[in-house]
Amino acid sequence: MSEKKRILSGMRPTGPLHLGNLHGALLNWIDMQDTYDCFFFIADWHALTSDYENPGNIKEYIRQMMIDWLSVGLTPEKSTLFVQSKIKEHAELFLLLSMITPVPWLERNPTYKEQIGQLQSKDLSTFGFLGYPVLQAADIIIYKAQGVPVGIDQVPHVEITREIARRFNYLYREVFPEPESILTQTPKILGIDRRKMSKSYNNAIYLSDSPEQIRARVSQMITDPARKRRSDPGNPDVCNVFTFHTIYSNREIIDRVNKECRSAEIGCVECKQIMAEGLIAGLAPIREKRRYYEQRPEQVDEIIVEGTRKAKETAAATMEEVREAIGI
Ligand code: TRP
Ligand code: SF4
Repeated sequence: MSEKKRILSGMRPTGPLHLGNLHGALLNWIDMQDTYDCFFFIADWHALTSDYENPGNIKEYIRQMMIDWLSVGLTPEKSTLFVQSKIKEHAELFLLLSMITPVPWLERNPTYKEQIGQLQSKDLSTFGFLGYPVLQAADIIIYKAQGVPVGIDQVPHVEITREIARRFNYLYREVFPEPESILTQTPKILGIDRRKMSKSYNNAIYLSDSPEQIRARVSQMITDPARKRRSDPGNPDVCNVFTFHTIYSNREIIDRVNKECRSAEIGCVECKQIMAEGLIAGLAPIREKRRYYEQRPEQVDEIIVEGTRKAKETAAATMEEVREAIGI
């Protein structure tokens, strides 16, 4: 076994990945590939907890998500990349953990209460949705992960995971380490309407967008809301376009915009055009790799099969221990 600390994280395949996902999670995962023993997986069962009525696109989303991952630089050479539903051991552990998880722990879960309130259009009064964190706990501890890189919204789930692991260890035998959240700082970049970038807000720029689509989206971006006319000076410090500049433009452009915006020498239209070209260039390597994998679906499938094989070995070994600890 490797000496590196093991981490694990997952994403629900609910659609193509956007810049919020890139800066909020993926870049962080890519960095971690060199320092940790990384397990990253596509949580298709979790997608079903809320989208059980429309599972239609999941298979396509899974392949697209793996292509997005490979395009940004996750690689099977460094990480174990796999799909949750291919490893039935997750379901077995979920079942066994559900025996020992008190329902009030789940009812208290803040994301549960929030989502039930927010997603009025879906009927989420299901057993599976309530049990979401139990499945997530199974995902994590079946690999004995020590760290879980997540955004702040997922911290309560990792907390429940720790409680479940502790309870298992107490009831039967010390099998699981208690995993810790590794907080990913939330992205500084916002959607084109200045809200959090999200598919459901229709305000996202996708990794798979073409240069034309990127130009169109950028031209719609809301800038400094106080800058009403071209002759008004603007404030880059509160402008989402400027935040993009700081990531995707060179020093010279950043300094120029920072100065000429404040004196109204540059207008937002031109400023956005310059930013869009920087963004297009910055994402070019990702678009190129995406084209490569899109033309080689067998290679993508092969990566999934191989990652799944590796993950399954670990999961199956843990399940042996689990069954033995329970005496079943
Ligand atoms: N619940 C996570 C999300 O919505 C996805 C997920 C499922 C996950 N299982 C996990 C994340 C295990 C980390 C570890 O983003
Ligand atoms: Fe934002 Fe650029 Fe307009 Fe200034 S000029 S408000 S930085 S878009």
